[in-house]
Amino acid sequence: QEQLLLRPKLLKDYIGQDKLKKELSVYLQAAKMREEVLDHILVYGPPGLGKTTLAMIIANELEVGIQTTSGPAIERPGDLLAILNELNPGDVLFIDEIHRLPRIIEEVLYSAMEDYFVDIVIGQGSASQPIHFELPPFTLIGATTRAGMLSQPLRDRFGIVSHLEYYNTEDLKAIVNRTANVFQIEIDDHGAQEIALRSRGTPRIANRLLRRVRDFAQVKSNGRITQSVTDESLQILDIDEYGLDRVDRKLLSTMIELYDGGPVGLSTIAINISEDTETVIDMYEPYLLQNGFIQRTPRGRVATKKTYEHLGYLWMETKEE
Ligand code: ADE
Repeated sequence: QEQLLLRPKLLKDYIGQDKLKKELSVYLQAAKMREEVLDHILVYGPPGLGKTTLAMIIANELEVGIQTTSGPAIERPGDLLAILNELNPGDVLFIDEIHRLPRIIEEVLYSAMEDYFVDIVIGQGSASQPIHFELPPFTLIGATTRAGMLSQPLRDRFGIVSHLEYYNTEDLKAIVNRTANVFQIEIDDHGAQEIALRSRGTPRIANRLLRRVRDFAQVKSNGRITQSVTDESLQILDIDEYGLDRVDRKLLSTMIELYDGGPVGLSTIAINISEDTETVIDMYEPYLLQNGFIQRTPRGRVATKKTYEHLGYLWMETKEE
């Protein structure tokens, strides 16, 4: 599948996140030199920045296997056991959305992480029996959108905590060019720059926009992606020059029109724009916060002067930011 081709296989081909890469390459080398399993790693950051890609690179660099699952997919201890059972010594277990693991599973995971065993009870009532299960040494890589959502005891069991940050324009441009190359898409420098600028610091969005713009370029011009084709397509896609889409703008205009710019609670905003609170917290808020469209206050979120001006509302100087 196309998506698989896109994921870089080696750390050196992973663009951006330089600080994290430097650190990680030391840990990878040290673990290899000592012939030990790599310590458990918690990777956190907004969606679409490459957490899964990173986990796959780590397994690949260590030359070990990887088992992949997600928090919501593991409902009962038996589900966890089934996947742990697949691990070979030194393998990586990747749990995406690890903050959504049920509490009872978290507790089973503690001993698995610390001492490579699990004690679980199978069966029910009088037929139930405890079983003790020894595991090979393994590396858990947990991914989450916000580290704060993990329980403290779980967080404490990760020896390495890595934070992914939004990508700068230069790195996104390199990612767009790399993807264009993989897909054999013709793109010029201005086209790549324009897509990078409008991708909210997020490779997944950059790659998605690239595909859409490719469609427009193919149908409307000669297939080559230029700045003007990009501009035109993004206008049709309703993505503005900050990369904000309809939902972002609806969120912001709701704050202004219904709540006079705030403060207003995030869940209230979410209800008004028919999105669930989780989605707003993970997908929309972080970029808007980081780029100064909203601010957090003890009483809720507030729209900033930048937002008023960007959306064409009158900003009153009496409003405090
Ligand atoms: N594709 C998605 N994220 C990437 C990254 N950081 N480097 C290279 N290719 C990517």
